Amino acid sequence: MLRCEGVRTPRSGDPIQRDRGVLCQSFLPNLKEIRGKIIVLSSKMGSISNNSSGGSYIYRSSKAALNSVMKSLAKDFQKHLIPVFIFHPGWVQTKMGGPNAQISVKTCVKNLRHVISTLTMKESGQFISYDGTKISW
Ligand SMILES: NC(=O)c1ccc[n+]([C@@H]2O[C@H](COP(=O)([O-])OP(=O)(O)OC[C@H]3O[C@@H](n4cnc5c(N)ncnc54)[C@H](OP(=O)(O)O)[C@@H]3O)[C@@H](O)[C@H]2O)c1
Repeated sequence: MLRCEGVRTPRSGDPIQRDRGVLCQSFLPNLKEIRGKIIVLSSKMGSISNNSSGGSYIYRSSKAALNSVMKSLAKDFQKHLIPVFIFHPGWVQTKMGGPNAQISVKTCVKNLRHVISTLTMKESGQFISYDGTKISW
């Protein structure tokens, strides 16, 4: 069976206003006021080109979809000078990552804070690891 449907929003008007599901639009006035950055926690597992082990269909595809949404948002928010970054936090010792994960929450947060502080509009829309390296889509 081949299903080729796609949900489209109306063709005219501001693209962000048309996609009412994007929560960030509600915060636009506040983000503009504080000249904020939008950061989303994705995962390397959402990278299609990096997928060397298969499996995790739902998790991988939900993160790939998230990446796609945030990439669009990065483009749409360029005119507002609000940068958008898509992050892989590393393999972190949380409930999800488990006790054998590579890094502690403290290390993850320390690195994320540092990398985020160095990012500017020029890098907006990139998929970045907690150590600052770029991840391919
Ligand atoms: N840990 C890693 O190694 C790792 C690696 C790559 C990416 N990430 C990403 O980093 C982010 C944070 O993950 P984490 O490691 O901090 O995971 P975590 O410790 O398992 O925490 C996940 C949080 O999400 C909440 N949650 C889960 N399902 C939910 C739902 N359906 N509705 C509302 N809340 C829900 C959980 O609430 P409850 O506590 O109430 O269940 C929990 O507070 C996630 O987006 C994850 O995909 C994590």
